[in-house]
Amino acid sequence: MSTPETVAARVAAEGVTATAYPNIALIKYWGKRDEALHLPVTSSLSLTLGVFATVTTVTLAEDLPADSVTVADGPAAQAFAAKVVGFLDLVRDSAGDHRRARVHTVNMGPTGAGLASSASGFAALAVAAAGAYGLDLDQRALSRLARRGSGSASRSIYGGFAQWHRGEGVGAEGDSSSYAEPVAAPLLDPALVVALVDAGEKSITSRAAMRRTVDTSPFYQPWVRSSEQDLRDMHTAIAAGDLAAVGEIAERNALGMHATMLGARPAVRYFAPGSMRVLDRVLALRAEGVVAYATMDAGPNVKVLCDRRDSAAVAAALGETDPAMRIIVATPGPGAAIGAPAESSA
Ligand code: DP6
Repeated sequence: MSTPETVAARVAAEGVTATAYPNIALIKYWGKRDEALHLPVTSSLSLTLGVFATVTTVTLAEDLPADSVTVADGPAAQAFAAKVVGFLDLVRDSAGDHRRARVHTVNMGPTGAGLASSASGFAALAVAAAGAYGLDLDQRALSRLARRGSGSASRSIYGGFAQWHRGEGVGAEGDSSSYAEPVAAPLLDPALVVALVDAGEKSITSRAAMRRTVDTSPFYQPWVRSSEQDLRDMHTAIAAGDLAAVGEIAERNALGMHATMLGARPAVRYFAPGSMRVLDRVLALRAEGVVAYATMDAGPNVKVLCDRRDSAAVAAALGETDPAMRIIVATPGPGAAIGAPAESSA
């Protein structure tokens, strides 16, 4: 029988495991108004995927002098471990429990694929750490907590479509009003076909790139205004179940975001030659009558939104641009939750 005492004893011994999935923004988050609290300039809207889960276990450890952070193949890189420790400090302060922890985190997707692993990573860590330290948080509070790790993680608390509200003000007012919520889309049956374009050398991180864009790009403020309109239009398109409109708005919002980066000084450019080939193929698909629209984030990969029924054909068409390129068909996935992933969606 599972009494509160036996649950507590089991948690202490085995830790708490949580699973979360990456999300891809259709209306992008690009720029902060409060760097410390990760408060965004604009609201954003995303689709959580059913692939590439992150599975994280947090175990409290009385005996450790410092937190230990490990990944599938051993100790975590220094920069990542420091972010995890900073995040645990937030959780410990809220819980009034300053014990150290062992954190073990595994990404089920290809490592370094640039597929929003910070979103799934901090959503999984928020749920597992809140569980391990005994914080009883509802989804809104979990979303706010995940946001503190990485802004986009606020949206991976939810499955399917989610909107992250920018909230109002800065400091405590901003912190309490900036969280994600689910967006119902009963009339859509989408897929995102992910083309893993080979990047060559690694680019600047999204965090540094968005800071430089806000600080130096003359195109940033115009994009902020157009993104607010894009978000309103996106809600209309989702409510109408109009996938072509959803795709058109998502594509223009993403290309606009990349335009702000191209205007930064020095410019930030994530497009690689392979990205351009995929974008050209998407245009050709549309000319052939297939509803397919592209979005890109802080990397060269291209994600193509289409109807689930067209996803195999779209994947085959994108594959023609480079037979060696890896292509993954993703459909909407679940929100972050306690436990290991279901076999089929890992
Ligand atoms: C281009 O959430 O990774 O993917 O809050 O600094 O951790 P930090 O940034 P992050 O930025 C994601 C940017 C994006 C667009 C998006 O996901 O909305």
